[in-house]
Amino acid sequence: MLAKVLTSAAVGIDGLDVEVEVDVSNGLPTFNIVGLPSVEVKESRDRVRSALKNSGYDFPAKRIIVNLAPATVRKEGASFDLPIAVGLAAASGQIPVEPISKFLILGELSLDGKLKRIRGALCMVSAVNGRDLDGILLPAENAREAAISSNLPVYGVKSLGEVLAILQGSITPQPAKASFSEITESDSLLDFAEVKGQEHAKRAVEVAAAGGHNVLMIGPPGSGKTMIARRIPTILPSMTVEEAIETTKIYSVAGLLKIDGLMTQRPFRSPHHTVSDVALIGGGRIPHPGEVSLANHGVLFLDEFTEFRQSAVEVLRQPLEDRIVTISRAQMTLTFPASFMLVAAMNPCPCGNLTDPMKECRCSPRDIERYRRKVSEPILDRIDIHIEVPPVRYTDISKQDPGESSAKIRRRVVDARAIQHERFRSAGSVFTSAQMAPSHLRRYCTLDSEGSDLLKAACRRLGLSARSYAKTLKVARTIADLDGSVSIKAHHLAEAIQYRY
Ligand SMILES: Nc1ncnc2c1ncn2[C@@H]1O[C@H](COP(=O)(O)OP(=O)(O)O)[C@@H](O)[C@H]1O
Ligand SMILES: [Mg+2]
Repeated sequence: MLAKVLTSAAVGIDGLDVEVEVDVSNGLPTFNIVGLPSVEVKESRDRVRSALKNSGYDFPAKRIIVNLAPATVRKEGASFDLPIAVGLAAASGQIPVEPISKFLILGELSLDGKLKRIRGALCMVSAVNGRDLDGILLPAENAREAAISSNLPVYGVKSLGEVLAILQGSITPQPAKASFSEITESDSLLDFAEVKGQEHAKRAVEVAAAGGHNVLMIGPPGSGKTMIARRIPTILPSMTVEEAIETTKIYSVAGLLKIDGLMTQRPFRSPHHTVSDVALIGGGRIPHPGEVSLANHGVLFLDEFTEFRQSAVEVLRQPLEDRIVTISRAQMTLTFPASFMLVAAMNPCPCGNLTDPMKECRCSPRDIERYRRKVSEPILDRIDIHIEVPPVRYTDISKQDPGESSAKIRRRVVDARAIQHERFRSAGSVFTSAQMAPSHLRRYCTLDSEGSDLLKAACRRLGLSARSYAKTLKVARTIADLDGSVSIKAHHLAEAIQYRY
């Protein structure tokens, strides 16, 4: 007899319908899985056999063939266990075939028939939205996560036995509720109030957060670069529901979702400089999102920027430009979102003391030149804001009163972002000043005569390149927004010019 079960596979962060066809016929006992299964999927056979037996059902000693359609897409992971087991129970006449077609079914089985949490549930269930189904059956641990992106009832189940009982009508399950735990302001324990002095750096970071600009901090060890970077998420606006869902999907397919539900905090990722290209950008045999995608809608912090291998830094170019990464595999090309704010930090010279007035720098000009050249021009071009972070002054560090709180800075950032949101409402994929294209610059960054004179003089005196010119205009636009000013004034430009390199 033949039974068909609807399940789903994650392709990138999207779900793809997969039909599991199970045919049981007389003949020598065999059990084959076809339809481009990976090794893990083939191992399903043993789990399904034990799980069925240990749940009180028979494993038919017949000729069993399982087909996963479409056969053109490679099937990865263990989530096919449950649909295969259900199909087998139906095809061998132990449960009725008809009710199965009403559900999307996914889950990994352990040998005793219990269901285990799967990766990518949130992505997989979104494939069947709008279909005429009674609901989705998946492991209880994935239920609240799946309910976020599903408009069908989601039933979390604990074991194969429970699933088969539901399909036979002897148990009526309760649907899970999506946990849209209010998207709240950052509940981080970190706060900018702890950063003493460094007003210039703090202001620059506020501008960066307000316009979504990438930042490079250059300063001697101990000046507080890492401390400042870690606090950037505390001044960013909360994620929108769409942003939260997209980011949660990435963590879901990566198997890194720590909470059962929607991620509400912007991610902060700080990979070590020894990170491999694959870990940074994504890929591997089963394509995994990399750090650039795990930082989606949050901050990617590259500390000791000059220590990163050249190849690792170069692969950042695509996500910095397109806000996605493309991973090519033999069978398919996958894309993952990778829209992040890049925050990089480095010392001013190999010994680190160059800009420290209290310490002596022992580096030769050639060493310094070589050190600075480690960061390639194309990457520097994509970083709008460059700041020197001086050593903390003793008078600042000994101050008792706390600095301005993250909450206060954040309010200004949120207001500036609201202005940008309104401005770019019709511009499609542009949300912040940093994302402006040349046509937007012409439209939204017009200067008065004083402003254009200032910029002209700066170009001449400082030898600003065309790239730097555009970056300065974008940053000036953000500064004007923070000031609540419709037009870009000369003093906005003057501040923006300071952040060039
Ligand atoms: N501006 C500052 N205010 C308060 N503490 C600071 C400041 N700058 C540095 N520190 C202290 O020095 C330590 C080292 O700072 P860190 O951020 O690691 O410096 P860097 O990354 O520039 O080498 C921090 O953990 C913090 O305790
Ligand atoms: Mg540091």
